[in-house]
Amino acid sequence: MYYKLHIDKRGVAFVTLDRPELHNAFNDELISDLIECFKKLSTNELIRVVVLTGSGKSFCAGADLNWMKRMKDYSYEENLADAGKLAELFTVINSHPKPTIARVNGAALGGGAGLVACCDYVIAVDTAMLGFTEVRLGLLPAVISPFVIAKIGESQARATFMSGVRFNVNRALMMGLVHQISSFDKLDEDLEVIINEFLQAAPVASSLAKVLIAEVVKKKSLEEAKNYTCEMISKVRTAVEGQEGMSALLEKRKASWL
Ligand code: COA
Repeated sequence: MYYKLHIDKRGVAFVTLDRPELHNAFNDELISDLIECFKKLSTNELIRVVVLTGSGKSFCAGADLNWMKRMKDYSYEENLADAGKLAELFTVINSHPKPTIARVNGAALGGGAGLVACCDYVIAVDTAMLGFTEVRLGLLPAVISPFVIAKIGESQARATFMSGVRFNVNRALMMGLVHQISSFDKLDEDLEVIINEFLQAAPVASSLAKVLIAEVVKKKSLEEAKNYTCEMISKVRTAVEGQEGMSALLEKRKASWL
């Protein structure tokens, strides 16, 4: 098994990529295992937050280049199916119903930076280097591109994809790829604060907030958006969680999920 899973009493799941000798580069086995892991976490009602991190000095060095190189002996169809598995992994994380936090403990390159882009909140250690380095290897950040472009936009994608430049966390912060920078010593203390912020949110509302964003950006007009957003708020304010949250505030007590 190339990853570790720890779930604490609060329902915070820590998924740790665990191939430190290869900087947590992912091969087909790790991809399949992670898909399975994230799918299970998505349907487990006890899980409130998922933290993704890496063991050793890197977060993730992207695709395992030994494995990628071997794909030369595979047919085009086999290559397509394989790329499809990778796309599934990014999709499962990107659309995960629980808040996902990337704890970027070190380098996040290629697909590793793609994993970062798929998480809802990113806290990175100040020494971490990130980059969409694929073109430096004659490859492309193809499968990760929809998720990365959604996060950083076309301008920053052009500026980084086409050169394969490695950049520091300050630039990543400016790009919107990283939300917070921490020192190595304070990383877990700062992470705890973020986890606690997400734990304050009503679980269903938090999950629906992600759906709301994904749907609103797809709407072609304000009119279309209005219909959707009015429907959403009408449903949630009359639902159990909405009623409980409002009652708790008015009655000066804690909401049931706290
Ligand atoms: N796939 C396979 N092996 C990898 C790898 C990857 N993506 N990234 C690193 N490794 C291997 C190295 O080949 C090396 O193997 P060795 O011990 O047999 O020589 C080992 O991991 C240690 O790497 P090294 O480069 O010596 O460590 P470092 O601490 O100096 O640098 C990185 C770490 C992650 C910054 C550096 O390895 C790197 O830049 N890797 C390439 C990342 C990349 O471009 N990924 C995009 C893939 S599309």
